[in-house]
Amino acid sequence: MDRIRIVGGRRLNGTIPISGAKNATLPLMIASLLTEDTLILDNVPHLADVGLLQRILGNHGVDVMVAGKRPGDDPNSGRTLHISARTIVDTTAPYELVSKMRASFWVVAPLVARMGEARVSMPGGCAIGTRPVDLLIMALAQLGADIEIEGGYVMARARNGLRGGEIVFPKVTVGGTHTALMAAALARGTTVIENAAREPEIGDVADCLNKMGARISGAGTSRIVIEGVPGLHGARHSVLPDRIETGTYAMAVAMTGGDVVLQNARPELLQAALDVLGQTGATVTPTNRGIHIARNGAGLAPVDVTTAPFPGFPTDLQAQLMALMTRAEGTSHITEAIFENRFMHVQELARLGARIRLNGDTATIEGVPRLKGAPVMATDLRASVSLVIAALAAEGETTVNRVYHLDRGFERLEEKLGGCGAAIERISD
Ligand code: EPU
Repeated sequence: MDRIRIVGGRRLNGTIPISGAKNATLPLMIASLLTEDTLILDNVPHLADVGLLQRILGNHGVDVMVAGKRPGDDPNSGRTLHISARTIVDTTAPYELVSKMRASFWVVAPLVARMGEARVSMPGGCAIGTRPVDLLIMALAQLGADIEIEGGYVMARARNGLRGGEIVFPKVTVGGTHTALMAAALARGTTVIENAAREPEIGDVADCLNKMGARISGAGTSRIVIEGVPGLHGARHSVLPDRIETGTYAMAVAMTGGDVVLQNARPELLQAALDVLGQTGATVTPTNRGIHIARNGAGLAPVDVTTAPFPGFPTDLQAQLMALMTRAEGTSHITEAIFENRFMHVQELARLGARIRLNGDTATIEGVPRLKGAPVMATDLRASVSLVIAALAAEGETTVNRVYHLDRGFERLEEKLGGCGAAIERISD
């Protein structure tokens, strides 16, 4: 199993190219199930989760072709996938696959919308909390699907097709909104989604669905209206930049000090996080190439932050901010309001010398003057990368174990940080 070895204490200077967003790529790939034609996705990041979803879709009969790079192509521009769900051979998504990646549960929506049936394993709990799918099931039921739960599987049936309806989410859910959008695209009549998630990845999926012939308006607001159409066709779409990768590297630079351009990053995708970085003392400047982030000399100021659905501070940057605040000059408070148990990084940051107290959903972080390297590991993607951020500022050597968590969501992490001067290497056993 690979490990990442980091020797802390170097400033970051240079340019980091930002990849396409993992959390847009996954639903976009799943949306390919809605049409017999080929969906072409550009700017797809090279990530373990993308490979895994390719296998899951393959099980339904979907062909995925990865286009090769040509001489002169930008090496940072991501890959192009040609995805064809011409014939769906199986409408079951088995436990062995769905349990490896929760987002694969979302196949339930296009399968029932196009094929009239789907049998998809319930994803179960995961390292960041219980993560139920009740609201996704409610959304499908509102569109006329008959739902049964049997042997750990959700069976959704709509023999005569789905019909438009009103879906009112009692709680903002990204997966629920993706599911509702995909199902409603092929339903008869109009669907209204109230209290929809406003995350930029929802807007990206809606844009792609509209290119495929869907009639969706209001994506990016809390009220989305979908006029169902009888069929969708192929399209070509470029995945939007990854705002969580952007925020992660921005926090790494705030942590080490230095001066970095996050190339292709779009500030409006993570304004709340950039505002917080500004409060810590980092300088954040949007440029025509991306985002310029710098911190020179001055110490880090503490902050009080609560995670929230977009446009609030994202839960997917909570661990990284906590790593940063371990070195602040004073006491910070971070409240996790989206997931009930997303604090696995706390114990591991403590191994590096961080002082963090947990009280319910709030962490109190007392900044310390120095961290010291140690072997660490984490059981989820964002927690793992928070350890990388801490390690970049820790004295001596840190080994981050279980690197496969990082590979799920960060493309060429050691190359991107190493290119800016970090002492970081991957060790393969
Ligand atoms: N929830 C329910 N019932 C449901 C669905 C959700 O109670 O049926 C609750 C969840 O338990 C949670 C809250 O609603 O408390 C929000 O969950 P949401 O459905 O928004 O999360 P998700 O769609 O499962 C996506 C991202 C996560 C990200 C969250 C929140 C993808 C593939 N995953 O998950 O990303 O944390 O939205 O923004 O888009 C990550 O990339 O590391 C990651 C975990």
